[in-house]
Amino acid sequence: MKKWFHDVFPPILIFRITKVYENVSNQLDGNETNHFDTIKEKNGVGNVSDIEWKPQKSSSEPLHLQISSYMKKKILNGEWSIGMKIPSQRMLAHHFEVNRSTIVTALEELAADGLIDSKVGSGTRVVNNTWSLLASTPPPDWISYVHSGIHEPNMNIIQKINEAEANRAFIRLGTGELSPDLLPNEQMKKFLQMDVGESLTLGYEEPKGSLELRKTISHYLKKKGIEAAPSSILIVSGAIQALQLISIGLLKRGSVILHETPSYLNSVHVFQSAGMNLFGIPLDAEGIQTDSVRRLKRQHHASLLYTIPSFHNPTGTLMSEKRRQQLVEICQKEALPIIEDDVYGELWLDTPTPKPMKAGDQQGNVLYIGSISKSLSPGLRIGWIVGPEPVIHRLADIKMQTDYGSSSVSQYIVNKWIKSGLYEEYLNQIRVELKKRRDFTIDLLNKYFSDLAVWDIPKGGFYIWLQIKSDISTRKLFEVALQEGILLNPGSVYDKNDQQHLRLSYAYASLADLEKGLKRLAELIKELRN
Ligand SMILES: Cc1ncc(COP(=O)(O)O)c(C=O)c1O
Repeated sequence: MKKWFHDVFPPILIFRITKVYENVSNQLDGNETNHFDTIKEKNGVGNVSDIEWKPQKSSSEPLHLQISSYMKKKILNGEWSIGMKIPSQRMLAHHFEVNRSTIVTALEELAADGLIDSKVGSGTRVVNNTWSLLASTPPPDWISYVHSGIHEPNMNIIQKINEAEANRAFIRLGTGELSPDLLPNEQMKKFLQMDVGESLTLGYEEPKGSLELRKTISHYLKKKGIEAAPSSILIVSGAIQALQLISIGLLKRGSVILHETPSYLNSVHVFQSAGMNLFGIPLDAEGIQTDSVRRLKRQHHASLLYTIPSFHNPTGTLMSEKRRQQLVEICQKEALPIIEDDVYGELWLDTPTPKPMKAGDQQGNVLYIGSISKSLSPGLRIGWIVGPEPVIHRLADIKMQTDYGSSSVSQYIVNKWIKSGLYEEYLNQIRVELKKRRDFTIDLLNKYFSDLAVWDIPKGGFYIWLQIKSDISTRKLFEVALQEGILLNPGSVYDKNDQQHLRLSYAYASLADLEKGLKRLAELIKELRN
């Protein structure tokens, strides 16, 4: 028995501890993965990329002891709860930059102390902590709490994508974000140097958000044909929060939301977690098909129609002006409110985007969502929603109960960018850069994919919806590419029945990585086909 055990536990407990000790298997190997793998699975999470600590090679304390003490602390203070799976030996060895044998010795220490146990096939898990050993009643079973939370977890594949994104070595061929090189870091630094005379609010903002910013957005939206007083605008922490507020603020459990299929909406569980059902309507080259909207609204008693008319995520489709008018008319007749998600609307590459549907909305039937996440900065977390005042008032009230307002500093920054006109100047630069990237990527597709896939050339936004001609599993392709350090967004993320598509993005990876990644992707498709 280890010395620290005797220090911590009274002798009377030694019998129980010995029982646990006896049960511990020495077999410590989890499922092996290569260094690009991450761990995320149903029963508890042990993610090696969350570990910031590393052993000190210069210390006189042996490395295996440093590692076992670190892990012991995590387990004893409850951060690593009972049932949680710890990363595999190989991943730990890679992360801590030590030999695998050092990890084996460290894990043997923990097993001998009765803190972890290993089973073939399910890896190594935390089985005890001091509380579980000392207490007559067991500690809370956090894993079962984790499973019973109301909000649905992300899809397993999205969890994998999110984790892999933390690894800078990956080539990200589908990421829906501007490349760090395109974000205006230098200009932002200048903006952050404030004049003494400027006023900055560090207190809570008004329920609808900074009045200054709402005035600026009201003015900015006029150029798009949208008439919205500051009182009809709510500042939100990104477009996703607008969706969240709508789901809990305006809809009953069991409501049905119509949307394009495939859709970004399927990749987040905002509406589903609030007990709502989604119903997809196919798109064609002009956007969501309107023929069935009336029938589906009646058949399913749909409460809302959600659409991304400009540079749709994930297909890149631009809804034509005519289709926009048709959709507004049908929805008005059917008293079916529209959520118009316009987060990509600014990012046209060839000709300006048609006016938002909100611009032609005479009856207040459209809730319009905008955001700076796809253009200026996803990290500032600022978006807006425009709608009838009672709706904005209701959503603002919920927002106050949720987070008491978006960051006042972020609101200040966004106001300054838009009001000064710099935002529009910057958008012009981004359009030039994105156009270059789009054309470059289309050239690569022509070079490497002409007999493997088909695609449309997007007129804006980030995405190319690549349809693979052969009958390979895109999920399998995702896994194989992941092993090679290439991160993909398969179509199933946006439509669970999709097996044929990949969402490519020309916005994130560098040109060199786009070339390298797409070339290798074409080879992988050929290998899987054979
Ligand atoms: C269509 C669409 N709406 C909303 C969002 C979320 O945007 P934000 O970062 O502003 O919350 C995204 C992000 O990918 C998106 O593609």
